[in-house]
Parts: sequence; structure tokens; C-alpha cells
Amino acid sequence: MLGRLFLSSGDLLADRRFEFARDLQLKGDLVAAADLLDQAVELAPNFASAWFTLAEIREQLGERDAAVAAFRRAREADRDDRHGATLRLMRLGAEPLADMPKAYVQSLFDQYAPRFDEALLQNLRYRGPTLLFRAVLAVRAAERKPAFFKHAIDLGCGTGLAAAPFARSVDRFVGVDLSPGMIERARATGLYAELEVADMLEGLRKRPDASFDFALAGDAMVYVAELAPLLTEVARVLVAGGLLTFTLETHSGAGVVLGSGLRYAHAADHVRDAIASAGLVLAHLEEASPRYEDHSPVRGLVVVAAKR
Ligand SMILES: C[S@@+](CC[C@H](N)C(=O)[O-])C[C@H]1O[C@@H](n2cnc3c(N)ncnc32)[C@H](O)[C@@H]1O
Repeated sequence: MLGRLFLSSGDLLADRRFEFARDLQLKGDLVAAADLLDQAVELAPNFASAWFTLAEIREQLGERDAAVAAFRRAREADRDDRHGATLRLMRLGAEPLADMPKAYVQSLFDQYAPRFDEALLQNLRYRGPTLLFRAVLAVRAAERKPAFFKHAIDLGCGTGLAAAPFARSVDRFVGVDLSPGMIERARATGLYAELEVADMLEGLRKRPDASFDFALAGDAMVYVAELAPLLTEVARVLVAGGLLTFTLETHSGAGVVLGSGLRYAHAADHVRDAIASAGLVLAHLEEASPRYEDHSPVRGLVVVAAKR
């Protein structure tokens, strides 16, 4: 789905070894690639991209312990963990489930921003925005209220795809996203009165109580492990009668897991519990796939919750 992050070691020879190793890796010669990467990290011991790639290869070769050690070296070499070594360690069961490194999410979407809309809409058949819009219309119709909102906040707004169907239903949109690249694209849509580069939880914390009547998050809570703190903040900023809607990925087990696509999947019961613990009331929860991955529909949930 995405290009690879490369952080130069600052050592020309080590960088060259890395490039050759990547060629070999792509050609399937993993052992030779690992050998060159071993040389690269010997030349430049803090070469995060080389450690990360070496870790991936060790994992592909079935050398779990060596993979774990190399992912840890990648993270030590880049404390912000822009490669997301932490996620790989979670997937390997070497570390407990935790939040995603913010710098990883930011660099992922900064790289992705220029081709995000095309990739999502065409390649991944993204229909989260339509699902959210339909769910909100259904909830409002059941409440015999118009689907019209004065002040909305779009959490993880990205380029604005999820806000677009609501453009005529919202007077004033605020967008919050970790990625400056995505925010720049969102600005170009003209959909938002205000945009902020921030973590969504931090962005919410700065807002006064009861300052929004609508909150949405399209395909963004898949980057949040623990929903309850976020939903609690949403509940605080919503007025009575306000709505929150979001899509999620889901799974048949219990709780939260980190899927192979490196996004969290939340079980439906976990979502229900998080909504209740935030003091919100569930108005709609539907199994529906927001998008495809590897040519198959991803299992998803479309949720609407209300503040009473
Ligand atoms: C898959 S995109 C979806 C964008 C948009 N909501 C849509 O429906 O097209 C996920 C977005 O969530 C943002 N994001 C992920 N975690 C975030 C966080 N903790 N705080 C703010 N934004 C976040 C990413 O930067 C990215 O732009």
C-alpha cells in the first residue's frame, strides 16, 4: 500500500549496502540481503532503516528471536520509531498491545497523502464515508430530527473524505489530524473552517465542554488501541443530543487485536463497553466493510453513539 520510509545513516557506504540489500530482498535473495544489512549496521550502528529491514528479513526467514532483537535496535536507533518497530514487536508477541507510535502514524500518512484519495477510493474501494452518512441519516430519522449540525469535529480527518458527504449538513467543520501532509490536502478542499495538526485526543482536550453537536472519525480509530479515553473526551465536548459516528475494523474474538495490516481491530463488545463507559448511548452498530485489503473486504463496524 505504501512506499518505504528511508532514514539515511549519514554514512555513504552503509547507505549503499542498504540499497543493494533492498534490491536483493525484492528479488527474494533474503540471505544475501541480510548479509549486506549486517555489514551496513556494522558500518553505521545507529542505522534505523537497516535494522528495521534486517528485522523484517529475519522474520521472513523464521528467525524470530533475531527479528525481535533487530526490531528493538531499529527503535533504539530512532526513538520516535517512525518505522513502527513497536507494532512489529507487538505482532511478534514480544511486547504487549499498546498505542501506535505517533511519529509512525505521522510519517506513514505524510508519505501517503499525495496519493491517498486515489488509493483509498479506487484501489481499496473505500466506502466508510457513505456508510457513516447513511448511518447518521438513519439515526436522525429514527429520532425524527433533521441530520443537520452546527459545529462538527472530524477526528483523524485525513484529506477530508469522510467529511465530504456531510458538507451540506454541517455549518462549521473542524478537522484534527496527526499528519501535516494530510492536513494540507484537507485545507485544499475548503471543507473545514479550522484545521489542526494534533493527536485527536490532545486536540479534543483543548476544546471546551459541549462545544460540538457532531463528531466523526472515518477509518481513524483503527489507529487507536484503547477507545474509552477518546470516547470519554468526545462525550465531554458534545452537547446533549449530539452524535458521534465512526468506522472500525473488527474481529470475532474478544477485546482489541493488532491485525496483519498493522491496524487495530476492536470486537463489537469492546466497542459497546467503551461507549457505555464514556457515558454515551449506542444508537447504531452495524457490521459493514469500509474497504478492501488484499482484494478482500475488511470486516468492519459502523457505529453511531449519542450523548443524552
Ligand atoms: C485512513 S486515514 C482516514 C482519513 C479520513 N478520516 C477518511 O475517512 O478518509 C486515517 C487518518 O487518521 C489519522 N490519525 C491516525 N491516528 C491519529 C491520531 N491519534 N490523532 C490524529 N489523527 C490520527 C492519520 O494521520 C490519517 O490521516
